[in-house]
Amino acid sequence: MACFLAKRPASETVKQVRLREDGGCVDHELCMTRLLSRRALLSVAAAGIAAAACGSDTAAPGGPPLRERAAARGLVYGAAGDVELTTNQQLGTTFVREAGAFVPEVSLKWAALRPASDTFDFVASDALIAWAGARTILVRGHALAWHQALPNWFAGVANEQTAGGFLDAHIAAVAGRYSGRVGSWDVVNEPLDPFSDRDDGLREESPWLRLLGPAYIARAFVAAREADATAVLTLNEYGFENDPGAARKRADFLRLIGRLKDSGTPIQAAGLQAHLLQNNPRWAEFDATGYSKFLGELAAMGLQLFVTELDVNDTAFPQDARTRDAAVASVYRDYLGVALAEPAVKMVTTWGLSDRTSWIDRSYPRKDGAHARPLPLDAGYQRKAAWEAVATAFDRAPKR
Ligand code: G3I
Repeated sequence: MACFLAKRPASETVKQVRLREDGGCVDHELCMTRLLSRRALLSVAAAGIAAAACGSDTAAPGGPPLRERAAARGLVYGAAGDVELTTNQQLGTTFVREAGAFVPEVSLKWAALRPASDTFDFVASDALIAWAGARTILVRGHALAWHQALPNWFAGVANEQTAGGFLDAHIAAVAGRYSGRVGSWDVVNEPLDPFSDRDDGLREESPWLRLLGPAYIARAFVAAREADATAVLTLNEYGFENDPGAARKRADFLRLIGRLKDSGTPIQAAGLQAHLLQNNPRWAEFDATGYSKFLGELAAMGLQLFVTELDVNDTAFPQDARTRDAAVASVYRDYLGVALAEPAVKMVTTWGLSDRTSWIDRSYPRKDGAHARPLPLDAGYQRKAAWEAVATAFDRAPKR
């Protein structure tokens, strides 16, 4: 196999990667043609997969980085991040070393993009997507229709007559702008509520549901497909593991996807957020059998599965860092052992890479004053037990 050498931008650690001369993937099993466009594939291959296949100079304590451990099994590993990636060189370099995919945690949400009802502000999102593109990192877009992170002006102007137009125009502008650069979109985020009084389990507090009815979901997918012909369109949801109401949510999610598929809605993937222990600290209540069956049923509907926001809330664990890290790692190990056994799971994205910037630390400060440790790297960007658990889970995953 003939290879050529490619270099990263000078600001990054220079790393040699090898691709086949015709630009194809070095290992067709890693191509995952149904997940990634050819362009995105080449990007991921150039930056990580090829490094795994041809050897790399990135050896660090603990062995090859997560992106390579995932790629070796035909998986993609990614992480959430935001504008700090473009300004904090240590974070950026670490991110590029470990992650082959990236999802903006905040900058593609309505509240970030829409300062006023008739304007868009793409400054931050353009910078982030250019940053990822220059480093050949696959981008997931998040999120086009969500009941949260709406700008303040929205409630004042959105009504039953105008909401559909706002939704269509927003998706056309945002997904259209990044068409070809975002490999997958979370089109609708968190549409369900297991305590909903509705038979279909849809979230009653969502302004989209209230103003447009259940049809808003298919409408958003159709608009996304019109704006971007190739992105993998995803329905993203949380609380399928041991959350209160998880069994109902799994059932409602399957029924919702069944209805979308039956009506010809362009949906290709299911996003499993997997904010573990977020709403129930008792991991022993995780129904692994029910969860595996759920993943199998989604796969049987022809969907790719992405673990989209993985982290482990450590609020209930003891303060001692070593004890806490071991407990967090054990949950990662357990969960990924079950999730990755399903071959339709193609990508794992953690909700952040380093404990320095986790939403859990901001939103759920510990009573003992210690910082949360929910992610693969600690606040100093060092690998910890959670990293090892994720890496080992990739090593043990069946090859895609
Ligand atoms: O950007 C402002 C900044 O200028 C200001 O100084 C600061 C002061 O609080 O706030 C900053 O914005 C915050 C932003 O995070 C960045 O830190 C927003 O107030 C805050 O609402 C926002 O929270 C994000 C939240 O979604 C709402 O968008 C979290 O970081 C993000 O982790 C969280 O992500 C969600 C997923 O989208 C969906 N699934 C659940 C997940 C966790 O809640």
